[in-house]
Amino acid sequence: MIEHQPQARWVAVEEYLSDVVVRPDSSLRQAAEAALAANLPPIEVSPNAGKLLKLLVQLSGARRVLEIGTLAGFSTIWMAQGLPDGGQLITCEYLPRHAEVARANVDQAGLGHIVEIRVGAALDTLAALQSEGAEPFDFVFIDADKENNPRYLDWAVRLGRPGTTVVMDNVVWEGAVLEPGLDPLNAPGIIAALQLMGEDPRLDATVIQTVGSKGWDGFAVARVR
Ligand code: SAH
Ligand code: DHB
Ligand code: MG
Repeated sequence: MIEHQPQARWVAVEEYLSDVVVRPDSSLRQAAEAALAANLPPIEVSPNAGKLLKLLVQLSGARRVLEIGTLAGFSTIWMAQGLPDGGQLITCEYLPRHAEVARANVDQAGLGHIVEIRVGAALDTLAALQSEGAEPFDFVFIDADKENNPRYLDWAVRLGRPGTTVVMDNVVWEGAVLEPGLDPLNAPGIIAALQLMGEDPRLDATVIQTVGSKGWDGFAVARVR
């Protein structure tokens, strides 16, 4: 019975929870339409996960957020909505086309004054932030090319401070963490980052598995010691 179509039921329950509890605002719904119209890949955080990012930003008391991987700006908008007056969010995106769609979405959401989109390879942007002497970030969301996850995690610690919250998306990857041959490009970076989360004395971390519209996946939450 219910075992036969668990995935359809996971998605239906996710939509129910999004409608009843999460309630994304009209700016997020408009952003979804713009991303669809621009043919961007549908790999953004679900509304339920986006709302969690907003709540974690708020619970962290964050004023400065760093995001690696902007796409159309969904997670950007969710997190910026959790920032207080005077907060700032810097987000790194490699593809100019994605950055343009995100810029319009963020502006349309009334968050243009909070969000700075830096176009280029994130590793270059992160090094630039360090040379510029950027103020420490209170919250870092890692969600770009998975092969660089261990380097992004190290940067998150270096650009953070004791107490900084780090969230990393896509750390279960349909179970490929136990079977890297399923995705030889992405799985090794995900696995290496998880190893670091467990071993690096600068971090305290856990992982929550998820199912739903984005398949079988999970996210890591860590705190810089
Ligand atoms: N965080 C977004 C989804 C990001 S998808 C959301 O949930 O709404 C991953 C994004 O990372 C894509 O837009 C991709 O172009 C970008 N990306 C891939 N490699 C990158 C790199 N080396 N530097 C910066 N961005 C990169
Ligand atoms: C992909 C990337 C993501 O960040 C995500 O959340 C889902 C899928 C991808 O590259 O396929
Ligand atoms: Mg992701």
